[in-house]
Amino acid sequence: MEFMRQRIARDGRALDGNILLVDSFLNHQLDMDLMREIGLAFAERFQGAGITRVVTVESSGIAPAGMTALALGVPLVVFKKRASRITNGTVYQANVQSFTKNTQYEMTVSTKYLPRGERVLFIDDFLAMGEAALGAAKIIKEAGCELVGMGIVIEKAFQPGRKRLDDHGHEVYSLARIRAMSPDGIEFLHEIC
Ligand code: G4P
Repeated sequence: MEFMRQRIARDGRALDGNILLVDSFLNHQLDMDLMREIGLAFAERFQGAGITRVVTVESSGIAPAGMTALALGVPLVVFKKRASRITNGTVYQANVQSFTKNTQYEMTVSTKYLPRGERVLFIDDFLAMGEAALGAAKIIKEAGCELVGMGIVIEKAFQPGRKRLDDHGHEVYSLARIRAMSPDGIEFLHEIC
């Protein structure tokens, strides 16, 4: 989407060829007008698909996913990065490796917030290796729900995540797709998908 590409071009900064800094508008200070626009864009794309829940992973996915849930009029469910004592024993979990941050965590959600039969839209801020999205897909399947689509704010198209999700047959919609980047500039893919 043009609004997202313009904002990244204006305020994003490539640290190197791999990491895009977006902390002035997406994941540290948040531009809530932009979040609303993001939510409306995802809602427009998936309107009519019978979505009954939006899910995301804490923490930076919450704002765009929340605005999407609001626009679709459905609940937002936040997958946690560790099991809390309260949900222990009645949870779905998936182990997720974060290559960008060189960490791993147990993606966790209480079974009561993902009842069988829900039609789910997954939203996240970045798609890099696809690990978080594949972990979420595994949990959604285990819960007996249908993963209708995945909405990504910024896809780093030069990393393998998109192909891995395509290979699994997931419907992915990215608002901005980065073909390549360096401290000198950011190059976008203009195909909308
Ligand atoms: P993957 O889920 O697609 O496999 O991605 P990867 O493991 O490589 O990245 C995991 C974390 O790194 C995610 O944050 C993701 O948002 C963040 N990330 C990936 N690429 C970039 C980038 O180019 N710029 C920035 N700023 N972040 C990036 P997280 O660990 O889930 O943390 P949180 O910020 O959501 O709490």
